[in-house]
Amino acid sequence: MSSHIPHILVTEPIPEKVTSYLKEFGKVTVAPKGTYGSEEKLIEDIKNYDALLCMLSTPVTAKVLAEAKQLKVVANFAVGYDNIDVSAAHSHGIKVANTPDVLTEACGDYAMGLLLALSRKFKEAEKYLREGRFNGWEPLGFLGMELRDRTLGIIGMGRIGQSFAYRARAFGMNIKYHNRSRIAPQVEQQLKATYVEDHKELARNCDVLSLNCPLNNETHHLVDKALLESMREHALLINISRGAVIDESALANALHNRTIAGAALDVFEEEPKVHPQLLSAPNTLLLPHIASATHKTREAIGMLAAEAITSVLQGKPDTEIPNLIRR
Ligand code: GLV
Repeated sequence: MSSHIPHILVTEPIPEKVTSYLKEFGKVTVAPKGTYGSEEKLIEDIKNYDALLCMLSTPVTAKVLAEAKQLKVVANFAVGYDNIDVSAAHSHGIKVANTPDVLTEACGDYAMGLLLALSRKFKEAEKYLREGRFNGWEPLGFLGMELRDRTLGIIGMGRIGQSFAYRARAFGMNIKYHNRSRIAPQVEQQLKATYVEDHKELARNCDVLSLNCPLNNETHHLVDKALLESMREHALLINISRGAVIDESALANALHNRTIAGAALDVFEEEPKVHPQLLSAPNTLLLPHIASATHKTREAIGMLAAEAITSVLQGKPDTEIPNLIRR
């Protein structure tokens, strides 16, 4: 009797603990970085695999899934899964999982870090010093925005939005948020967070606007020219969600024209490309999509994705598969 050994594709090198764990359940192929950044090679190769552990940069499109003759599960090494055509996967009977919760704290820390760095001009000030231009304490040098009593507007008040809000509360900020639905009243109370039904009203009336929502048809280019023009002149924008929630050329113009005062961006519309006018924009922090990048979190993300795969390969019922996406 021949028993089929499951073949698992991991599209980028990931923490060793995760690959070792997966090896207990099947044959594991770890692709070198960049192999599956576009769909062509995945379309060619996917037919050989029973399970796919992919990155947010791996396009798991309908075309890929149509070739996935023996694939049972796709586990994304990320909480956001806009890179996966979930309905196409489901139509082929392929399960899809993501990795919420384990990255919440790392992302909350990071958003707070971006806000502090941006509001106090760390980047410009450090550059000034390194260029040898610091030649004495200056009463008018690098004046920034203090956070106490300022309003943080959060679009997308899920786990990560809330973890940022907790931290911002500790800095004395007022929290307003927009979300598809209101969060639980006790959480609203804890955060002293005010729900704003209209995201445009929220953007108009905050000092810092943070994007913490998933990318989907409703949120694509949610921050556009009109929204940016309605914002306060001293307002700062923070994005650790997905690049395409912002119309990047509208943002680049707004920054160059000083319509808003600055932006910290961890994500981009066409990663790894960065809009050239963002590269030259004033008071703009640009980072290479690293919000969840801590040793602890990246290992936890990997283990969670791997557990979804091994649960499916063991034939467990859906209720025992971690973080299955059900729609
Ligand atoms: C990172 O962007 C993630 O979605 O986990």
